[in-house]
Amino acid sequence: MNEFQGKRIVLGVTGGVAAYKAAELVRLLVKAGAAVDVVLTAAGARFVGAATFQALTGRRVWHAMWDERMEIGMAHIDLTRGASALLVAPATADFLAKLAHGLADDLLSTLCLARDCPLLVAPAMNRQMWENPATQRNVAQVRADGVSILGPAHGEQACGEVGDGRMLEATELFDDLYASLRVKSLGGKRVLLTAGPTFEALDPVRGLSNSSSGKMGFALARACVEAGAQVTMVAGPVALATPRGVNRLNVQSALQMREAVMQELPGQDVFIAVAAVADYRPRKAAAQKIKKSASSLTLELDANPDILAEVAARPDAPFCVGFAAESCDLAVYAEGKRVAKKLALVVGNLVQDGLGGETNAVTLFDAAGAHVLPLAEKSEVARGIVAHIASLMEERRGQR
Ligand code: C5P
Repeated sequence: MNEFQGKRIVLGVTGGVAAYKAAELVRLLVKAGAAVDVVLTAAGARFVGAATFQALTGRRVWHAMWDERMEIGMAHIDLTRGASALLVAPATADFLAKLAHGLADDLLSTLCLARDCPLLVAPAMNRQMWENPATQRNVAQVRADGVSILGPAHGEQACGEVGDGRMLEATELFDDLYASLRVKSLGGKRVLLTAGPTFEALDPVRGLSNSSSGKMGFALARACVEAGAQVTMVAGPVALATPRGVNRLNVQSALQMREAVMQELPGQDVFIAVAAVADYRPRKAAAQKIKKSASSLTLELDANPDILAEVAARPDAPFCVGFAAESCDLAVYAEGKRVAKKLALVVGNLVQDGLGGETNAVTLFDAAGAHVLPLAEKSEVARGIVAHIASLMEERRGQR
């Protein structure tokens, strides 16, 4: 399953230095199976030439309203017919102003008016141009007209200044465009997740932890965003980048994770516990580094609270999903956990199939039985899990 396979995207490129990132974006889209029609404005063509886009897309590049290559000579209408999205990246301050006012004096601005597909724009400009009240007014108008504004990011700019106005990176635009094409199966829902390991301190430098990479939890958080949810993720110590659109809260220990979860819980529709929470913590964390002394050392451990079980037992519990990573007898343990913790769904996997790697093979256990998802990239597995959660929630709504 790949949202771009067989789809056609129209990419408008206006005149900004960030146009070079558009070339990289085209490469990613084509690699994912999309056909990309590039429309260059006159100013855009001054930054990256048509030959580059032509070579990357394997298709002719469009410039002019009066292009005779269109069969009935209506490039301004025909190009977006049947397209899945029109993305303008980079979108200059001038182009945003045109969009806000509905001007149509070149091919790209005309296409924006005469389209029947979603329009997304990725602003790129100097920070003062971005902060200018005129630009902000135009952006607010464009957003109110139903256009998705992607970014801009904060950072170093081509002019040497630092501030808001940088265009998002090609990979970020790719992810946002991908998300825009997905079915919004969790639209309007709020999702809270835990992810990664916990770290239970023994002294200032040592602690108990496990080898959870956090990748599955992070992929699920992103898949929930793609499905239209508002997502908060409480993450144990992992060095992964925060998925786009996810509100991340960092914690170390199980107790901190529990506290953050309880604080964020009110108003959540779904709770997905992906974190590999340490079952025990040292009874006392030493204030100073423990020195080597005798030949053996005995640690006294206390049991950690089971965050998921506690959330699921509440009378106002959201839709609760647990994970079961087992080394054998997956079905027995996973279904046992589902019943014991009163969960709607348990995602089970054998540790040898998923821990640390980029792929995972999981089985979903719910009241109706077991459903096997085939081995796939964790991002793809996450989308499968989200689709299952959405269908179970829909079922529940139907039963009420
Ligand atoms: O019982 P077990 O630890 O195997 O259950 C795993 C599931 O419970 C996972 O979803 C995990 O995130 C959650 N869990 C938790 N708090 C704990 C232990 C596990 O939320 N202390």
